[in-house]
Amino acid sequence: MIMQNRSGDAVLHLMQESLCDHYQSVLGWIQPIMWNESFHDSHRTYLYKFGNCITGVPGYEMHSKPLDSYHNMFSSRPGCAKPRRILVEGEAGVGKSTFLCKIAYDWSISNGKLLPYTIVILVELKQVKGSFQDAILQQLFPTDFRIPLTKLLSHLATHQENVLFLLDGFDEANFSCLKHLQDILGGRIFRNSCVVLTSRPGKATHIQRMMDTRLVITGFTTENIRSLCVQVFSR
Ligand SMILES: Nc1ncnc2c1ncn2[C@@H]1O[C@H](COP(=O)(O)OP(=O)(O)O)[C@@H](O)[C@H]1O
Ligand SMILES: [Mg+2]
Repeated sequence: MIMQNRSGDAVLHLMQESLCDHYQSVLGWIQPIMWNESFHDSHRTYLYKFGNCITGVPGYEMHSKPLDSYHNMFSSRPGCAKPRRILVEGEAGVGKSTFLCKIAYDWSISNGKLLPYTIVILVELKQVKGSFQDAILQQLFPTDFRIPLTKLLSHLATHQENVLFLLDGFDEANFSCLKHLQDILGGRIFRNSCVVLTSRPGKATHIQRMMDTRLVITGFTTENIRSLCVQVFSR
């Protein structure tokens, strides 16, 4: 599936094609039973609910209300016309990485209809060993990808308002990429892109001032657990 590409931009087209393929074939699966690696389920049938989510502007009044849908985190709200730096916090195992995979997967199958971004870049920060920019190519594109990194980065920079970055695991990031992360979060690069960053609670306090929205995933409710068990074990 390739997204509509009105500009006819060949670089965009190749990037979209490759990213969609990666998000569907590699990240399009979840393992609902952690100890059973042979059992995978598609994100299509995947039950996702935030627990209680807190949205707000760090340092100011926090509004505590559950989100009906994750799409709302991209919407304007009083005091923030366009959220661009979104911190998603949650304890280990609560589903932060799965949540970012779900967003990337939804984007890849929706032909540009679900999310207002032409490119979605999901980076696992734990795996970034050198520069953040190199990691984009290494994690998301095939080794024989036809577009060189400089061209790819220049496309992202030029069309930055259409780019969504999903950065997973700030608390697990290597020292080597912290400088790049601070540049991105602080808006020195990709200022007009939207960035969703996940972290365990309390591990991102020093960068909270750079974020305009903070969400907390508190995990499944009893009702969520009940329906997930029915869904998984009734096969
Ligand atoms: N929405 C969900 N539906 C079903 N299983 C989920 C969901 N979210 C997480 N899981 C399960 O929990 C495990 C841990 O989730 P993960 O996203 O790795 O957590 P975190 O990144 O917060 O540590 C996943 O491997 C998966 O088995
Ligand atoms: Mg994780």
